Amino acid sequence: MKSISNSSLPTFLVETREEAERVVADEIASLVRAKPEAVLGLATGNTPIGVYRELIQKCATRETSFARATTFNLDEYLDLPPGHAGSFRVWMQRTLFAHLDLAPERTNLPELDGAVSGNAIDAHAVAAHYESSIRAAGGLDLQILGIGRNGHIGFNEPGSSRDSRTRVVQLHATTREDAARSFGGIEAVPVRALTMGVATILDARRIRVLAFGAHKSAIVRRTLFDDVSSECPSTFLRGHADVALYVDREAASELDVVRRSRV
Ligand code: GLP
Repeated sequence: MKSISNSSLPTFLVETREEAERVVADEIASLVRAKPEAVLGLATGNTPIGVYRELIQKCATRETSFARATTFNLDEYLDLPPGHAGSFRVWMQRTLFAHLDLAPERTNLPELDGAVSGNAIDAHAVAAHYESSIRAAGGLDLQILGIGRNGHIGFNEPGSSRDSRTRVVQLHATTREDAARSFGGIEAVPVRALTMGVATILDARRIRVLAFGAHKSAIVRRTLFDDVSSECPSTFLRGHADVALYVDREAASELDVVRRSRV
């Protein structure tokens, strides 16, 4: 693993994504061993899958127990029936929760079902409740993060402000295109979601960002070198007190320092 940081966001180049996945999983495991009641911020998508595989392994071998930990996911679609196969809750259950010793009642997603009953389910009330639940749990100790091709973090699409909090958002076209495969076509992808805000994410004490593959090369370059602005919400990660970005060679391929093969 090689450091390729400019000062704005500590960045590490790995030869294989597995190398980064091990480093981040080891860090999470150390955190949870030192602080069993740790609060973890989780992400969905292709990016964190290997980290989750490593955590499952650590739990299976009894190296690490998550029994006292709490988790908060970044985001969830709105307007899906409970238990829908495309929901992040179902994805998290299948990919991670079913294989760890987490207490089910301490796995949180910003979702409507169960949180509010009755006809008028108020997504805005759920968002406010999610924000206060994170605070009540003591805040996020470590947030795992991927970056959308358009610079979104969580579902904070371009236009999201630095001080945004958990809220209802409209999904952008690129985000819905990227999700089309899980829904069997773009027309089935929800148009709205609940997401932690940019400020909610930046409040995490540590943030570990992963980006793998050539399709992330442009957004990695923009995250590090575009002006910090709502146009590319991932630029807001720069300046966080304890953030690290792990990229493989493909994702780093638009960075001059890598293109010129100096690392
Ligand atoms: C999704 C999620 C994000 C995720 C990102 C990247 O839409 N809401 O939390 O980090 O897009 O997805 P992937 O890891 O599949 O590239």
